[in-house]
Amino acid sequence: MDYMYAPGKNHLFVPGPVHIPDQVIRAMNRNNEDYRSPAVPALTKTLLEDIKKIFKTTSGTPFLIPTTGTGAWESALTNTLSPGDRIISFLIGQFSLLWIDQQQRLNFNVDVVESDWGEGAKLDVLASKLAADTAHTIKAICIVHNETATGVTNNLSKVRKLLDDYRHPALFLVDGVSSICAIDFRMDEWGIDVALTGSQKALSLPTGMGIVCASPKALEASKTAKSVRVFFDWKDYIKFYNLGTFWPYTPSIQLLYGLRAALDLIFEEGLENVIERHRRLGKATRLAVEAWGLKNCTQKEEWFSDTVTAVIVPSHINSSEIVRRAWQRYNLSLGLGLNKVAGKVFRIGHLGHLNELQLLGCLAGVEMILKDVGYPVKLGSGVAAASAYLQNNIPMIPSRI
Ligand SMILES: Cc1ncc(COP(=O)(O)O)c(C=O)c1O
Repeated sequence: MDYMYAPGKNHLFVPGPVHIPDQVIRAMNRNNEDYRSPAVPALTKTLLEDIKKIFKTTSGTPFLIPTTGTGAWESALTNTLSPGDRIISFLIGQFSLLWIDQQQRLNFNVDVVESDWGEGAKLDVLASKLAADTAHTIKAICIVHNETATGVTNNLSKVRKLLDDYRHPALFLVDGVSSICAIDFRMDEWGIDVALTGSQKALSLPTGMGIVCASPKALEASKTAKSVRVFFDWKDYIKFYNLGTFWPYTPSIQLLYGLRAALDLIFEEGLENVIERHRRLGKATRLAVEAWGLKNCTQKEEWFSDTVTAVIVPSHINSSEIVRRAWQRYNLSLGLGLNKVAGKVFRIGHLGHLNELQLLGCLAGVEMILKDVGYPVKLGSGVAAASAYLQNNIPMIPSRI
């Protein structure tokens, strides 16, 4: 039964959880199975191999953990670091803030590099800290690739370059929760030591699987890292990997089959095409925002996010009212402004299982809501700007040519 039923499909435009493809829902509609039978390890083997393609790694070791993004953070930190270790962490919005809070509660010595919300990580500050750290006291750099609260994407290749320029051995830990499988992400090429995501974001699965990938250097660090860990200990997984049975504890059978179907869809579209599609969705959204005469929370083009756009509303309008009305009147779910930007921005999530015409529906909805709350928008202006761009840029669907 539906609570608060509304006809038609909900326009789910929060930046995760996102709509699940019908193919994935069907694949998950199945009974439980004995995970110790030969079938589940055989399936798992394919998942572990294929998830590496999404992270663009050949040397990384993936872990499919029954958890959310927050648990994946904890897995990355506790397996590689010891209490008291100095780490650099960039605070640029609500999710980087929450990760820093976790790092502090785990008793690391967190050197916080803060930016105004809407700006990216201050890499010039990183450069000076690396230059000064000739004794190599910095054990890790922690960075959120795409800050979902503000729609800011950090440049990871620049972080790698700085580490290389200063020949600094710090581990490079990356939250890719709202980027991996939507925004260009190259674990091996960028020398990332631990990368992580959650199933409910661009992979378009239900919540409940944290996906963590560790480089050989991170695995080596895990042998001496002293943080207390039990449920998240990579050692337990590796033991079962070596036995060929894969699971130290009970996996969700349904999520495993769901992940298989999700990966199949991504490979059928082509990972690069998936990333291109997100580029189009991001660009079209930003063009609409511009046409409405509103400002993007993201302060510079170099940080524009292709998975989420945070839109600043005029000061006399409360953005939470926009989100409430979207849902109440138009069956459209938009993201709230969080913490420092609560009431000031609303967010359009454009990631995962989504196409351009769906986005245009969302943009049309936003225009009506803006008018509802007294903002003088010309109906159709954002849709026109977005569709003019899309009409010139949407490629033919490869399987239908
Ligand atoms: C960038 C980022 N990191 C971490 C998280 C936390 O993930 P979860 O809510 O799955 O624990 C989120 C959630 O939206 C996120 O956007």
